[in-house]
Amino acid sequence: MFKYKKALCIMLSLCMVWMAFACGKDKTDDSQSKKTDDLIVIGFSQPGAESAWRVALTDSVKESFTEENGYKLIYKDGRSKQDNQIKDIRTFIQQGVDYIILSPIVETGWDTVLLEAKEAGIPVIICDRNVVVNNQSLYTAYVGSNFLSEGERAIEYIENLYQPGDDGVEPEVNIVHIQGTIDSSAQIGRSKALERALLEHDNWHIIAEECGEFTKARSKEIMKQTLTEVDSSEINVLYCENDEEAMGAIAALNEAGIKCGVGTSIAVISFDATKSALELCMNGQINMVAECNPIQGPYLYDIIEALNKGENVSKITYIDETSFTGDSLTEDFIASRKY
Ligand code: AHR
Repeated sequence: MFKYKKALCIMLSLCMVWMAFACGKDKTDDSQSKKTDDLIVIGFSQPGAESAWRVALTDSVKESFTEENGYKLIYKDGRSKQDNQIKDIRTFIQQGVDYIILSPIVETGWDTVLLEAKEAGIPVIICDRNVVVNNQSLYTAYVGSNFLSEGERAIEYIENLYQPGDDGVEPEVNIVHIQGTIDSSAQIGRSKALERALLEHDNWHIIAEECGEFTKARSKEIMKQTLTEVDSSEINVLYCENDEEAMGAIAALNEAGIKCGVGTSIAVISFDATKSALELCMNGQINMVAECNPIQGPYLYDIIEALNKGENVSKITYIDETSFTGDSLTEDFIASRKY
């Protein structure tokens, strides 16, 4: 009997210890989930990871929206397909995120999914490339580049390089044009600047034009193919719509033993100004790079902070950008850049 009572006592004590532990544990879980619940949740949809530039944009957004700053960022990579991005946005809506940041692969085709976000009461901030929608109220704000003005800076460089001779005769300028992803804002703006310049300069001609998808590999293939169709001595300008494409095309030229850049007959124009392209620019293989600034996280952060406080925000914010030629670059400067 005594033995039985002792066993019961031990069991009761163990139960009490377990209950005390369980209660304590629940308390901890509560406070932890409360902490997570307090975070502002952002769904960030990127079109892919096709370039060093885009990786820098992803990093910039991730660095701006941290848990320490009160945010939880859900990142989705659309693997270069608009359909995937649309699915990702729908997932964000189902998850009930507080904001959506969308970097759209192309400009059109977003009306339906943006309407779904609007009806769910989720503000959408567009970044990097823009959207073209029937109703401007489908998104709250846009932050990104003025791609047309980037293109115009590149055109100004080509115009200065190919001035009329002393006899007043305009030189013939044959251009190989490697475009970015067709229908993306970056391609539309940069191509439009070139198309306008072609209308103004009868002596400028496109001798090859192909879409390089903003990638090094595709651009290299295009340049290799172009060299089988066009004599390299006929090429005066290589207009590549981003750094990856410039690096791919240069690699193809180098492999064929053809020199390009400053002091050669082929001027190379690029866009982005990533570290590797700036190195090539400083060494003369790229003549000019129109900067496209991927450090957009801080701009997005300011907008979302303002929205959190119920403040109005600008519908369009263009980020600061400049241009580079070899003489404006040093190793220290390139090393000091974030991307
Ligand atoms: O939309 C910006 C463009 O997209 C950048 O020029 C390019 O590198 C990126 O992939």
